[in-house]
Amino acid sequence: MQNYKILDGKKISEEIKNEIKAEVNNLLLTGAKRPHLAAILIGNDGASETYVGHKVKACEQVGFKSSLIRFDNSVSEHELIQKIIEINSDKDIDGLIVQLPIPAHISEEKIIEAISPAKDVDGFHPINIGRMALGMPAYISATPQGILELIRRYTIETSGKHCVIVGRSNIVGKPMSILMSQKKSYGNATVTLCHSQTKNLSEITKQADILIAAIGQPEFINSEMIKENCVVIDVGIHRIKSESTKSGWKLIGDVKFDELAHKCSYITPVPGGVGPMTIVSLLKNTLLSAKKEIFI
Ligand code: GUN
Repeated sequence: MQNYKILDGKKISEEIKNEIKAEVNNLLLTGAKRPHLAAILIGNDGASETYVGHKVKACEQVGFKSSLIRFDNSVSEHELIQKIIEINSDKDIDGLIVQLPIPAHISEEKIIEAISPAKDVDGFHPINIGRMALGMPAYISATPQGILELIRRYTIETSGKHCVIVGRSNIVGKPMSILMSQKKSYGNATVTLCHSQTKNLSEITKQADILIAAIGQPEFINSEMIKENCVVIDVGIHRIKSESTKSGWKLIGDVKFDELAHKCSYITPVPGGVGPMTIVSLLKNTLLSAKKEIFI
């Protein structure tokens, strides 16, 4: 018998999309313009194409306008920054994202800093990260925000719990560690942030009430690494060859789901867990921008 519960990001994200759609309709009734997200995509990396495609489709679903701006891999840093500056002052555009990773000859830091903090709906700009860290109004990066929302909608207690995060990326691990420890509802956890240099990793992960796996390595977390009744959040997404699917591919996470799910109280699936929550969080940030709720 299945004794664990699935944290169904697909279902919750559909609920949130309906909420956003209703808000968009209300906004339009007041005479406001349609929220508008612009996405810059450089090159033709398959995974990035898929992610941006999902973001554009989600915009359509909730009634946002979206613009996809494509550049070749050979685009110069200067050309890219000029485009960002143009979008920063375009009054019709509420949010701007540059899909990462970007080619090595372009500085990711410079690109992120070029985006106006008021349109940085990815929440990657140092001003938004700083404001988030201080508990001030800010765009919170989409994946950590999506994870918190999933935890909130399933009313999982975080206060006083030990939350172990594996992976210290700027996009997920680092902001997640700050948010989980903040003195706010759906925070107040004792956080341990583990990374590639952590010694005795299993000793630490076994103490987790909530384990967030954001390592970027397929099926890294196994059943020996968690304790009974742990809540497991899997941020990883990897496409691997498979003989059991029609397409010849399947998606797996950073967690060995089949092996450890029975030990969990709650667990996110891959796909259908954190991924869809990330996309709705981006929509939420774009709506906040259109409503001028973070920056005036
Ligand atoms: N690449 C992987 N995740 C993300 C994300 O959330 N936003 C952007 N812009 N690029 C990404």
